[in-house]
Amino acid sequence: MKKNIQIAIDGPAGAGKSTIAKIVAEKLSYTYIDTGAMYRALTLKALKEHIDLENAESVTNLLKETIIALKPSERGQLVFLDGQDVSKEIRSNEVTGNVSRVACHASMRKIMVEHQREMAEHGGVVMDGRDIGTAVLPNAELKIYMSATVAERARRRFEDNKQRGIESSIEKLKEEIALRDKLDSEREASPLVQAPDAIYLDTTDLSIQQAADEILKLVSERMA
Ligand code: DC
Repeated sequence: MKKNIQIAIDGPAGAGKSTIAKIVAEKLSYTYIDTGAMYRALTLKALKEHIDLENAESVTNLLKETIIALKPSERGQLVFLDGQDVSKEIRSNEVTGNVSRVACHASMRKIMVEHQREMAEHGGVVMDGRDIGTAVLPNAELKIYMSATVAERARRRFEDNKQRGIESSIEKLKEEIALRDKLDSEREASPLVQAPDAIYLDTTDLSIQQAADEILKLVSERMA
């Protein structure tokens, strides 16, 4: 029986990846790694330092002098940028609106991916993102590609934002989500695509617990 497997969860924004990945990780006593938060942290720093987001070299050099750390806490996973807690700031509309422009640079992603692989090398991880099953952990024992309709994903982001005290409009969120899907899936470097060996999970009509249970069932099968 295998014990500390790698679980890769990919899919577009708002599919429920992070919420569900956290539940699965907790249930298995695994480490949850939110790779989107790492790209968001770099975007935040690039915005603060007025780096040209379209310039691959500037963005890559910025990452080389940046320390991004994810730490579990009672309040959930915290994100540290050069030692500062930026967990809330990285969810701002400004970061969300610009992260795709930063995340598209291949030379920067190469470094980010190395870091992510190191974080997962001992297994016992649930990692979520866009390229985990295809590029970061191609040998993950379990790969899930999670999605839901744009309307449902916008509704979830709206509720999420409300809870975080961030104002938003459903119509605007729909547009933003559709645009981000387009940018993330059409970019050249590690686009958002389903890995051939990933299992497709449509969460549109599933509750969070139902989706988590579905994954936990697959985990038991893989571990057997
Ligand atoms: O999951 P999220 O919305 O927090 O991700 C933020 C952005 O980061 C998303 O627009 C795409 C990018 N991203 C990526 O390119 N690769 C990953 N592994 C994770 C996120």
